[in-house]
Amino acid sequence: MTRNIIIDTDPGQDDAVAILLALASPELNLLGICAVAGNVPLPLTSKNARIVCELAGRVDVPVFAGCAAPMARALVTAEHVHGKTGLDGISLPDPQMPLQDRHAVDFLIETLRREPPGTVTLCPLGPLTNIATAFTRAPDIVERVQQIVLMGGAYFEVGNITPAAEFNIYVDPEAAEIVFKSGVDLVVMPLDVTHGALATPARVAAFRQAGRVGPAVASWLEFFERFDTEKYGSEGGPLHDPTVIAWLLQPGLFTGRRINVEIETTGRWTSGMTVADWWGVSGREANALFMGKVEAQGFFDLLTNRIARL
Ligand code: BDR
Ligand code: CA
Repeated sequence: MTRNIIIDTDPGQDDAVAILLALASPELNLLGICAVAGNVPLPLTSKNARIVCELAGRVDVPVFAGCAAPMARALVTAEHVHGKTGLDGISLPDPQMPLQDRHAVDFLIETLRREPPGTVTLCPLGPLTNIATAFTRAPDIVERVQQIVLMGGAYFEVGNITPAAEFNIYVDPEAAEIVFKSGVDLVVMPLDVTHGALATPARVAAFRQAGRVGPAVASWLEFFERFDTEKYGSEGGPLHDPTVIAWLLQPGLFTGRRINVEIETTGRWTSGMTVADWWGVSGREANALFMGKVEAQGFFDLLTNRIARL
């Protein structure tokens, strides 16, 4: 049986690879892509999502533009990581496929009301603004969500955009708090996982050989990881967002714990921190399956084999 998913995203090179992995996987039925402001502003993320669909030859996938700014604060972007376009690394043609007329939040609400309860999984790869806005406007949809599998937060690795916070949660902590308190079955891929998924030179070289689309993936990764390899002194940059899709395909690649995770929204130095009770000291009820490790080579093998099919 295929699983219905909606990807909510701010592409971003790693978002783009996650979208490609979903498009290459017959186990998943991608109902639509919602763009949100994050790595770059909304006009670029909604354009980049369509560039990726066209690269994969999938102009049939509907792409919706969503929220242009976080719920309660000004947008923070990450051109220093992703480049001016958000998809720097290879120059691809402007998309011909149109954006859908509907707002992404309306698409989320209408789809969750239309499909049978418990049959749609949400895959957020960026700030949680669209999802939290939909939950706030239409609380009836919350219990209809099958699962949310998202990239965001950190425990041992703590932060990447500030010393205390991971980018996706930092950009819109108010939205993240709504999602983490929603009661939906949550699976979280934090930096602790993604910093174990390094795109080493050998792995990037394997992408370059992976069919028609592989060379674009290799070029994106070479651009995207320059920032992190300098910062961490590692032999490759972490590949964050595809871990979400990989978990849907091969959950056995990952290990983690069901724990309580609270979102810091007011901290002077710690805004956007995921306060993850890994050791169970708070007594608060678990609200997320917080992953801790990935079997990295298995993850890259899955990714390269699937990308080679496109
Ligand atoms: C997350 O932030 C973005 O820059 C990446 O696309 C990923 O979703 C990692 O912190
Ligand atoms: Ca992202």
